[in-house]
Amino acid sequence: MTPQSGRAPSRRSNVSSFLAMDVLREANRLEQAGRRILHLEVGQPGTPAPALVREVAGRALESERLGYTDALGIPALRERIARHYGEVHGLDISAGRVAVTTGSSGAFILSYLAAFDIGARIALQVPGYPANRNILQALGLVDVPLRLSERARWAPTVALVEAAHRSQNLDGLLVASPANPSGTAIAPGALKALTGFCDGEGIRYIADEIYHGLTYDEPAQTALKFSGQAIVINSFSKYYSMTGWRVGWVVLPEDLVRPFERLAQNLFISVPALSQLAAVAAFDASDELEANRAAYARNRELLARRLPEIGLGRFLPMDGAFYAYVDVGEYCDDSAVLAARLLHEAGVAVTPGADFDPDEGYRYVRLSYAGPAGDIDEALTLIGEWLKANGAVR
Ligand SMILES: Cc1ncc(COP(=O)(O)O)c(C=O)c1O
Repeated sequence: MTPQSGRAPSRRSNVSSFLAMDVLREANRLEQAGRRILHLEVGQPGTPAPALVREVAGRALESERLGYTDALGIPALRERIARHYGEVHGLDISAGRVAVTTGSSGAFILSYLAAFDIGARIALQVPGYPANRNILQALGLVDVPLRLSERARWAPTVALVEAAHRSQNLDGLLVASPANPSGTAIAPGALKALTGFCDGEGIRYIADEIYHGLTYDEPAQTALKFSGQAIVINSFSKYYSMTGWRVGWVVLPEDLVRPFERLAQNLFISVPALSQLAAVAAFDASDELEANRAAYARNRELLARRLPEIGLGRFLPMDGAFYAYVDVGEYCDDSAVLAARLLHEAGVAVTPGADFDPDEGYRYVRLSYAGPAGDIDEALTLIGEWLKANGAVR
């Protein structure tokens, strides 16, 4: 029995668990018991960090002290990130505005603390990445759900944000593009309109650009192009294939740099030195990273072709990231039940939509195509056979 301290845990710790991680835990348990499981639930690359990154890390382990670094990151990485915006977007961003963080997750926490007071209201996409909502709640901020529609390609519009602002007096707006779980991206015109509206109304625009680099038709535009007030967050986790290295970054408006730095010093001291030194090399690993992207692009085509063949034809074109958000409403009342049965009976792990959308996610599952093509192909065959044999799950 757990000893009782006589005090309840904090109310702020009472955030929902991450269902994708629960599915992963169950899938791992089945694997340990000898079952073969195909993983379409995990939102991370199946590839390791680029060879160049691992080489630099190996050398740094031998030759560097690897102590604390500046709270905002090592100058070489801050400068390299700033240069990246020149190379990719033609923007002149000062390295002084760049802060290196422990994944983008660290950037979100510090950005919210630097920009908002307790009780501030931040609008965010629903469906959307569940940690966004939970981080806000844990920090005493109020999440204002922007209910998006599949018909509008899950894209937030100025009209939606304006309506939320009129009723809730927003302090911030968080937009991920390309988005998780939908894989859809907002068009440059819409991004310009949203940032323009927010700047005009004094709403802080926070851009989650963690899936930048992983687009398949049009390259993604950065919010930095349209706003000097936006907080723009990115990560080495996805395109750069470095989830476990826990390194990301944020480009801040000038006036938030020092507040952010004070918080970073006190809350984290610094980001792991080894990850920072290695991450500098990630920008020189384009050949390997573009090969990864080409593999995702092939997986995406495979999904787009095969999903309708197995009776799962209700999903939107996938602009970016590595997810398909599929409407399974004709097969079940609750996609969590469908996901559990697919895992146990077909040996395929998928993520139920309730993770991303507590109200309407019961109709959807998210499939990740970040893994090997052979696994995805086989998983689709197994799902198709299972659906044929079982029909609807009610
Ligand atoms: C939309 C989105 N934002 C942020 C994150 C956090 O990633 P990290 O902390 O590894 O940068 C994720 C991870 O899946 C994500 O999907």
